[in-house]
Amino acid sequence: MVDQQAVLTALRAVNDPELHRDIVSLNMVRDLAIDGDAVSFRLILTTPACPLRETIDRDVHAALDGLVGVGSVNIDWGAEVRGTAQREGGPKPIAGVRNVIAVASNKGGVGKSTVSVNLAVSLARLGARVGLLDADITGPNIPTMLGLTGGLQAEGGGGLRPVEAHGVQAVSIGFVLPPGTPVVWRGPMIGSGVRQLMHDVEWNDLDYLIIDLPPGTSDASMSMCQDALIAGTVIVSTPQKVALEDARKAIGMFDRLGVPIFGIVENMSGDIFGRGGARDAAEELGVEFLGELPLDVTIREGGDSGEPVVVGHPESAIAASFIELAEQVAARCSVLQFAGEAGAVA
Ligand SMILES: Nc1ncnc2c1ncn2[C@@H]1O[C@H](COP(=O)(O)OP(=O)(O)O)[C@@H](O)[C@H]1O
Ligand SMILES: [Mg+2]
Repeated sequence: MVDQQAVLTALRAVNDPELHRDIVSLNMVRDLAIDGDAVSFRLILTTPACPLRETIDRDVHAALDGLVGVGSVNIDWGAEVRGTAQREGGPKPIAGVRNVIAVASNKGGVGKSTVSVNLAVSLARLGARVGLLDADITGPNIPTMLGLTGGLQAEGGGGLRPVEAHGVQAVSIGFVLPPGTPVVWRGPMIGSGVRQLMHDVEWNDLDYLIIDLPPGTSDASMSMCQDALIAGTVIVSTPQKVALEDARKAIGMFDRLGVPIFGIVENMSGDIFGRGGARDAAEELGVEFLGELPLDVTIREGGDSGEPVVVGHPESAIAASFIELAEQVAARCSVLQFAGEAGAVA
């Protein structure tokens, strides 16, 4: 009969391909049990949206198959998402939220809200606990995109209460503003409104909170990034050549604020706008390219109808692109969380 030590030694040869550490020292292997020649354990990933599960599965089986005394291997998969570590002197975390992911762009109309909604719903479909905060004071259209009718955001005992839609907890500044309030706030109003939105919501145990930021490098987006601990940002860009200039500005702002950048996603990729501009921009600016989303009428229809394309057409190639984006973003988030300690263990 094989013993626990032999199994653990074999599993130490299996690395998480992105964290570059073995799954035993990462504490991903739990509750190892051996019954005759049957080996079973839980394998806890750093995110339910892990794009590398199949690779890890294959490597685990390869490592154990050759072991004398092992007949069958039974893995019970799970995930535990870590919270973002607070930076020295940096902003405090949002209560109830492990990781804030900001979606940003340098200008409006590039698909920031579309990406925010489909990214949030995709992460939820992959099994994560997800919230979506519509913080775009220049055009809060997340409620429409999620199929939520207007009205004020319900107040709970301790603050605003999110509304559930497509498996996502949602809050919109559109719900918080009384009807008729000018969409563009100025000066101190921005600061206080944003602060309420950031820290006054009863989020329920979120792995990821997606924030649809206002476009550009306005006061509003700056104060949001200074007001809450952000795991990283996803920059949405269109494929045109000017994308490079736009992305550079957005990246410059986040760099100055000390907010990590997960990468750039190219939206509306296709015939009219061309293709590849954002990929080139990512390369030139030294950030990750997170993927491309085609220009497609079903994406717009999903936004208009309140049924995001990943819900309305879950089997489509477009939904698959959003799921892939969600996996990439979740993976970047995990990598950043472990980056600080990798050196110590290696
Ligand atoms: N990939 C796409 N294909 C087709 N239409 C899109 C795509 N991305 C966004 N749209 C549409 O373009 C418009 C602007 O997108 P939106 O997400 O509101 O941009 P932003 O939030 O950056 O202003 C919306 O009508 C939306 O449905
Ligand atoms: Mg928008």
